[in-house]
Parts: sequence; C-alpha cells; structure tokens
Amino acid sequence: MKKLAIFVSTSLTLLISNSSFAGSPEAGKSLHDEANCLRCHADKPYNPTKTDTYEKLVAAVSFCNNNMNVGWFDDEVEDVAAYLNQKYYKHPN
Ligand code: HEC
Repeated sequence: MKKLAIFVSTSLTLLISNSSFAGSPEAGKSLHDEANCLRCHADKPYNPTKTDTYEKLVAAVSFCNNNMNVGWFDDEVEDVAAYLNQKYYKHPN
C-alpha cells in the first residue's frame, strides 16, 4: 500500500512538472495582459533577431519579471515565454 502511494505521488509529480515545463501559451497570454508588458513593449517590439533562441526568450521574460517586480513563478515565466514564442518569436523549443 505504501509502495502504491509512493508510485502514485511520483507519477503525479512527473506529470505536473512535465506539463508545466513546456509552458501554456493560453495561461501566458492572460499573465502577459494582466502585467501590462505592452506599456513598454508596444514601443519596443519583441524582436526575434535579438532574442534568437527559446532559452534567451525565457531568460528575457525572467529578466523583466524580476526587474518589474511582477512576481511570476518559474512556471509562469515559462507560460509567458510560450505565449510570446507562439505569437512573435516562433523559435523551435
Ligand atoms: C519599464 C519598461 C518595461 C516593462 C514594463 C517590461 N519590459 Fe521587457 N524589456 C524592457 C527593456 C528595457 C528590455 C531590454 C532592452 C530591449 O530589448 O530593448 C526588455 C526586454 C524584454 C524582452 C526581450 C526583447 C526582445 O527584443 O526580444 C522580452 C521577451 C521582455 N522584455 C518581456 C517582458 C515581459 C513579459 C514583460 C511583462 C512582465 C516586460 N517585458 C515588461 C523594458 C520593459
């Protein structure tokens, strides 16, 4: 019984961490709208040539998250990166 409980909780953890790793563009869109990122980035358009890999995109989102004190967790940063990637960057990831 104990083994079963461990198995179930391990599978659940894997499931949850796997799904949050990819990032959800839908969740990212809401977060991005709420944080009003476009108050700066409408004038400073997201630039796929400058931020030329998905890893750099995640780092850039994380950078602005920290500097603007938005308070997103890592999985929310991934969601926003997934959204921006789908809409503007289109990098393979
Ligand atoms: C106060 C202004 C400001 C706000 C608000 C802001 N940023 Fe930024 N952001 C910058 C600056 C400055 C840079 C780096 C310099 C540049 O790209 O010109 C940058 C760079 C970036 C980049 C890389 C830019 C590129 O060209 O690829 C991303 C992605 C990004 N920010 C995401 C966000 C997200 C997501 C938010 C919302 C939480 C946000 N930013 C809010 C000022 C801002």
